[in-house]
Amino acid sequence: MLVFETISAIRQYLASSQTVQSVGFVPTMGALHEGHTTLIETARRENDIVVSSIFVNPVQFNNADDLARYPRTLEQDCQRLDAVGCDVVFAPPVAEMYPEPPALKLNFGELETVMEGAMRPGHFNGVGIVVAKLFNVVQPHRAYFGQKDLQQVAVIRRLIRDLSFPVELIRCPTVREADGLAMSSRNRNLTPAERAQAPAIYQALTLAHDLMHEGQSVAHAKAAVEDFFSQKPSFRLEYVEIANADTLQPASEVLAPGQTAVCIAAHLGKVRLIDNLVF
Ligand code: PAJ
Repeated sequence: MLVFETISAIRQYLASSQTVQSVGFVPTMGALHEGHTTLIETARRENDIVVSSIFVNPVQFNNADDLARYPRTLEQDCQRLDAVGCDVVFAPPVAEMYPEPPALKLNFGELETVMEGAMRPGHFNGVGIVVAKLFNVVQPHRAYFGQKDLQQVAVIRRLIRDLSFPVELIRCPTVREADGLAMSSRNRNLTPAERAQAPAIYQALTLAHDLMHEGQSVAHAKAAVEDFFSQKPSFRLEYVEIANADTLQPASEVLAPGQTAVCIAAHLGKVRLIDNLVF
């Protein structure tokens, strides 16, 4: 496995090895877990060359504390990537990606008005800028993103369409711990007591799903989740939404199979967790 830190070096390498071969790309911010390595394994099966990036992108953090606390584990990350068959890692320093703060501003329209867009102003601008830059550097044929960040998938879909990137977007299922907690780099910041309570988010998603599956209304399912968290004082529920899984706009009733998403964001101690179920 090769590790590059500069745009010119990875460009030169890919230009010399890319002829006719397909390139699969998995962007990450490191602190890798099985959610990430599953994306790499999927890319491995579907492409000749697998490229991953590790870059904690300052432009997408709207909370300085969250950026400072973000775990950085480059050496272990490279070992994990190597073990699952990644060919090339791009791990640039901040000054390589941003010699100066980007002047460009991206706005994803109605995606900015709901859930992560509404709660984290400027977040998707930062995600869009870094992913556009990475697509320009790596020029992948396919790019792999996790359903864990469902709204991010919708943002990247718009980015690809709006800027005509010749990239196929592939959404991969959320990987969970045995107790249902969605794997996340931020789970490392949970205390043992918080970690023990964290699966409540998945339980709440399942509760909402089961109620709607039984024919209960969207409003009833949302109210049941709010009630569920009102009995769990260690959580601060930020939102529960039932939405269209592609547009993330609120759904007032259950949609066609595969089209309805239940999405939750909640604070547990200092950690903000998000998760969703699509059905
Ligand atoms: P990061 O949080 O490191 O996630 C990298 C990729 O792994 C994303 O596509 C994310 O959805 C996916 N992922 C994380 N946890 C997962 C899980 N439990 N199951 C399945 N997939 C999971 O998302 C980002 O980084 C950044 O915003 C990035 C796209 C790299 C741009 O900076």
